Amino acid sequence: MSAQADMRVVNLRKRFGRRDVLRGVTLDFPKGEITVVLGASGCGKSVLLKHLVGLMRPDRGEVWFGSTRIDRLPERELGIVRRQIGFLFQQSALFDSLSVRENIAFPLREHGMEDERLIEEKVVRVLNLVGLGDTLDQIPSELSGGQRKRVALARAVVLEPRVVLYDEPTTGLDPIRSEIINQLILKFSQTLGITSIVVTHDLISAHRIANTMVLLHEGKIILQGTPEAFQLTTDPIAVQFLRGELGADELARIHGNADDGQATTGVHPPL
Ligand SMILES: Nc1ncnc2c1ncn2[C@@H]1O[C@H](COP(=O)(O)OP(=O)(O)O)[C@@H](O)[C@H]1O
Ligand SMILES: [Mg+2]
Repeated sequence: MSAQADMRVVNLRKRFGRRDVLRGVTLDFPKGEITVVLGASGCGKSVLLKHLVGLMRPDRGEVWFGSTRIDRLPERELGIVRRQIGFLFQQSALFDSLSVRENIAFPLREHGMEDERLIEEKVVRVLNLVGLGDTLDQIPSELSGGQRKRVALARAVVLEPRVVLYDEPTTGLDPIRSEIINQLILKFSQTLGITSIVVTHDLISAHRIANTMVLLHEGKIILQGTPEAFQLTTDPIAVQFLRGELGADELARIHGNADDGQATTGVHPPL
């Protein structure tokens, strides 16, 4: 594996019944960078993420976490790896009956932390990080969709993971709330050095945050490169995907104003 890759999949194959979902995916996820995996709905993005935390096992191929091959690890050993990987699920998956505090504390307790003062300290710290320090005692149903997403984001980073996987982090959010999430993903990446793997069909977000974009189509990677390289592609399938999801005007808007992406950072508290 390349020295810069924090995670890697090699020739990953997965089929369900007669449906070949992943047909040989090889991909490096560089350390400290944001890799965005794009693709149409149903193309296998969530399946790919589930392989990265051992929630699914490949039919063939390899999954690497640093220098550890994890696709054949027994469940017990996978636990050690999972502690270092945060996962933001597509549906925020908060516990409805637990307070925000206990939702975020959950992974800490699950991994054996018992010191209540330390737990409180860590919970408050990540909740402040996502700008929701005043919601500790609320329950998820009292929060907006965007706030719930941010609580889930706080929970995904509370164990100070090396890698965070984001499954459709902005889907269903309006542009302003999407941008808040984008800025948080960038902040986690830049200030905490987290390696980020984001799967989405939201091209606007992808262009905002990606170091590298990857386009998955019919179980294979058909395009990989910087956001700028994606704009220049002449690959007919990629062009179709990009046109279908995002007009040229919007692309120009995203890339035309370099300061634009920083517009909402002021609303978040400093680290
Ligand atoms: N556990 C499963 N059993 C059977 N089929 C599955 C399972 N998980 C996903 N699939 C199928 O794999 C394909 C890709 O799913 P998914 O990765 O969820 O797509 P998306 O790119 O929208 O995240 C879909 O056709 C889906 O029905
Ligand atoms: Mg999905």
